[in-house]
Formats: sequence, structure tokens, C-alpha cells
Amino acid sequence: MKLWIIGKRGMLSQALQRACEERDIDFLVTSRKEVDVTDRASLQHQFETLHLTHVVNCSGYTAVDRAEQEKEKAEKLNVHAVETLGRLTKENNVKLVHFSTDYVFDGKESSPYSEDSAAAPLSTYGQTKRLGEEKLQEVNPEACIIRSSWVFGLEGNNFVQTMTHLMKQHESLRVVSDQKGRPTFCEDLAHAALDLLDHQGIYHFANEGEATWLEFAEEILKLLKETGVEVKCEKIDPISSQEYAAPATRPAFSVLKTDKYEKAAKKTARHWQECLKEYFERVEC
Ligand SMILES: NC(=O)c1ccc[n+]([C@@H]2O[C@H](COP(=O)([O-])OP(=O)(O)OC[C@H]3O[C@@H](n4cnc5c(N)ncnc54)[C@H](OP(=O)(O)O)[C@@H]3O)[C@@H](O)[C@H]2O)c1
Repeated sequence: MKLWIIGKRGMLSQALQRACEERDIDFLVTSRKEVDVTDRASLQHQFETLHLTHVVNCSGYTAVDRAEQEKEKAEKLNVHAVETLGRLTKENNVKLVHFSTDYVFDGKESSPYSEDSAAAPLSTYGQTKRLGEEKLQEVNPEACIIRSSWVFGLEGNNFVQTMTHLMKQHESLRVVSDQKGRPTFCEDLAHAALDLLDHQGIYHFANEGEATWLEFAEEILKLLKETGVEVKCEKIDPISSQEYAAPATRPAFSVLKTDKYEKAAKKTARHWQECLKEYFERVEC
């Protein structure tokens, strides 16, 4: 097996590199400077010169709010590059794993979304990710697409890191309480991707348990205090998405159903609270 990870310093890429090391998988990884995923010739060169068996695409345009102003940039990475990768992996008989998001859903349901639920993205980011899924399935039906949600990792900007920073600085915070999802630890998502290397079609992966951003923040504060980190924050007030007024609209309910993954991998996902504990054991706050 020879696996190529696209994207080097991203949150998921770094977790995936660790997961490959843990499983003794022979991999190589490239940054955007080494191989620009939007440059077809550069991609093609990789397939011509390396004897790849698998590609895991950890690249993507992930700035959900900024995407509202940068639609073309988001499309370049989340749609066009994904389509090219799909074609090249198909032509070269290489397995491809790609990532997508719970933001492909509109959040109007009240029971968990399955892989077959109708997508109806509310934001530009969600629209580009959905279009990327569609193009990829069109050009390479054997590709595997893993949708995940509310990802927090040991590196990179994410909700846990942001909250930790704010909780050290402010006595009170206001956090959105009308969006519900499944927080997901990047380390677990990386292992799920390796579990699905030889699968095709769409899979959902998220950690067990549902939460609102407010509940997620409350658990972060509790664990920070238990860990002995000095925090100023004493109070977290709920606010609505409307009051928070982020540029991109998020789904009110984006809980992903994960039994298809659990059946395929013969594993159950850990609870996000257990993962959050592990996060604070591994990260210096
Ligand atoms: N974060 C979440 O909550 C979440 C939730 C669901 C799904 N996802 C999906 O998971 C995937 C990874 O997300 P992430 O959070 O790890 O993203 P991230 O931390 O923002 O990392 C983005 C990665 O994309 C690479 N990249 C950007 N432009 C590139 C280019 N032109 N050529 C090659 N590589 C390029 C970066 O490369 P460098 O290493 O050179 O910087 C970086 O490694 C994305 O598809 C995202 O949509 C994320």
C-alpha cells in the first residue's frame, strides 16, 4: 500500500499522519506549496511518478464564513480540484477518500441525517462541498466520501481552541444554543478514514452524542477547570443564531447518523465527551 495525503499542516491531515504511523501504513504527504491541488499538471505528475494505491484528500477551502465573500476560491478547491482528483484517481485505478460536511444539510429535520437524506445546503461553503460530492460521484463512483461534523483537533483553529482562548480572557461568554450537532475528534475521524480506505460511496462519521454549541462550550469550561487551567470565565449565556449573526447560515440540526460506518468498520464511535477529555490530556492549554 502507498497512500498519499494531500494537505500537510491542516487539522485533519496532521491527525491522519499520526493515524498512519500508528497503523504502520506507508504514506507520503504534501503541502500546498509542494503540490497545488488546483494545478492539474502538478497532480498528474504525482500519479505518473509514484506508485500510489490510495489518495486521501485532506485539502479543502474550510473558512465557512469567509466563503460567502470568496465563492470562486471555495469552488476552486471544493469542486474543481475534487473533480480533477476524481478523474485522475479513476484513470490511474487509485482509491480516493474525500471529506465532506454536515453543512450539506438544511437542518430542518429532527431525526439524524443518513447518507441518503436529501442535501440542501444553506451556505456557500455547504453548496461547494455538496457540488464537490456530486462531481466526484459522477467522475469516480468508486471514491469514498466521508461527511463529518463539528471537528476539533489537536492542531489548527477549531471551536475548542477558540473557546479555551476566550475563557481565559473573559468573565462571561455568549454561545449559540439553537444549533445541534455531533462534535467529532479529528483523531477518531482520521482512523475512520483509514477504516474506509477500500470502501465506496458516502459514509457519515461523527463521535457519539449530540450537543448544542452552548453544551459543547459548557463541557469545555468544566474540563478546563478540572484540569487546573486558569480561566476567567464564570458564566456562559445562550444566544440565538440570529443574534450571533454569522455571515454563513448554519443548519439548526445537523446530527449525522453513523450506523453505515459502524457496520462497515465493525466499530462504534466513542462519545465526544470522552474525546474532549483526551484532547485536554494531550494539549497544553
Ligand atoms: N473542520 C471541520 O469542522 C470539518 C467538518 C466536516 C468536514 N471537514 C472537511 O475536512 C477536510 C479537512 O478539513 P480541515 O479542518 O483539516 O481543514 P484545514 O485545517 O483548513 O486544512 C486545509 C488543508 O488544505 C490544504 N490546502 C489548501 N489549499 C490547497 C491547495 N491549493 N493545494 C493543496 N492543498 C491545499 C492545506 O494545505 P497546507 O498543509 O499546505 O496548509 C491544509 O492542509 C475538508 O474537506 C473539510 O471540508 C471539516
